[in-house]
Amino acid sequence: MTRLMATLNSHYLKLKAGYLFPEIGRRVKSFTDSNPKAAARLIRCGIGDVTEPLPAAVRAAMHTAVDEMGTNEGFHGYGPEQGYEFLRSAIAQGDYRDRGLEVADDEIFISDGSKCDGGNILDILGSENRIAVMDPVYPVYVDTNVMAGHTGEANEAGAYEGILYLECNAENGFVPAIPKEKADIIYLCFPNNPTGAVATRKQLADWVAYAQKHGSILLYDAAYEAYISDSSIPHSIYEIPGARECAVEFRSFSKNGGFTGTRCAFTVVPKGLTALSSTGNRLPIHPLWHRRFTTKFNGVSYVTQRGAAALYSPQGRSEVAALIAHYMENAMILREAVAASGLKVFGGVNAPYIWVKGPEGVTSWQIFDRMLTQAHIVVTPGSGFGRAGEGYFRISAFNSREKALEAAARLKALVW
Ligand code: MLT
Repeated sequence: MTRLMATLNSHYLKLKAGYLFPEIGRRVKSFTDSNPKAAARLIRCGIGDVTEPLPAAVRAAMHTAVDEMGTNEGFHGYGPEQGYEFLRSAIAQGDYRDRGLEVADDEIFISDGSKCDGGNILDILGSENRIAVMDPVYPVYVDTNVMAGHTGEANEAGAYEGILYLECNAENGFVPAIPKEKADIIYLCFPNNPTGAVATRKQLADWVAYAQKHGSILLYDAAYEAYISDSSIPHSIYEIPGARECAVEFRSFSKNGGFTGTRCAFTVVPKGLTALSSTGNRLPIHPLWHRRFTTKFNGVSYVTQRGAAALYSPQGRSEVAALIAHYMENAMILREAVAASGLKVFGGVNAPYIWVKGPEGVTSWQIFDRMLTQAHIVVTPGSGFGRAGEGYFRISAFNSREKALEAAARLKALVW
């Protein structure tokens, strides 16, 4: 049949709803537009967006970099696509080698965000791979696979055909059991968004063993590793022997250095990590990711990378520690308030997210509406993260102390 016009990527039409956070934004706007008084008292505990100022060490480094850019000698045009060596080596040394983990500078790829990296990595992986995700899950992992055509349609409950959903619930401590079935690509996120759960060394070792047995790749999202307070919990998947042969790790400066608006993150792709080509050859994926980077990306700005590198200075490290302490005290305040209201609370100890089981029989979106209209607090409905999140809601601890205290007082006063 002759086509009448250009075609679009029909996989996008399989996507069930708008992306979760813009959808929440729309609902909040429609409520506040018609309730201006409520708008003034609104407390946002929905999207996990940092609220506190950029560390002074970062600002100073960025100012200096801007001034350099104003001189002939210090001007920087296109930088290396993979990131400047000064930042890659600060990361490889500071986050890995100083902790006894083998990661080379050129295994680090600097980007503008883990969300982007998590979606972009699909460019270099085969389309026949069976994908497994935790449920509930950060929606980006699922949606980007739908967009890439790696799934069938969604069923009534919103689950996409072809994806293996690994249920996380209160019984398994929100850490999924190792599946009996084989999956090729497994997304793991610890500390977890949205549940705040962490995986023990043994649990991660079981996942590495699973990946080794099946020739799978673990896509390990460690964006919240700085929030780990329990010293027995691994910060990196590379703390598990064998992970360099089966895991990619995503990290971000968004939640530790306050870079959600500044944009800088990185991905670790070990050179020993291989996958099969269509002709059955086992090939490293590092050169493909490098090729993708150099072809589709021009790198993060010099000024931003200088700012990120300052997070590794003694001053930067102590400022990050203070930011984490600030948000984690909020988490404690909010956790206690929810517990006092009689609801069951999870997370919020090694992660900035508090995961709450709502009252029996009330859906996540009903809770969202009730919190918005009665308490004027924005939360994230658990079902927005997947079927297994139904009946739960997530409270973000990213806020000023004043707002966290006010939110806690309102949560305690709420009658369910
Ligand atoms: C969230 O609220 O889940 C996060 O802000 C998502 C993100 O980091 O992209």
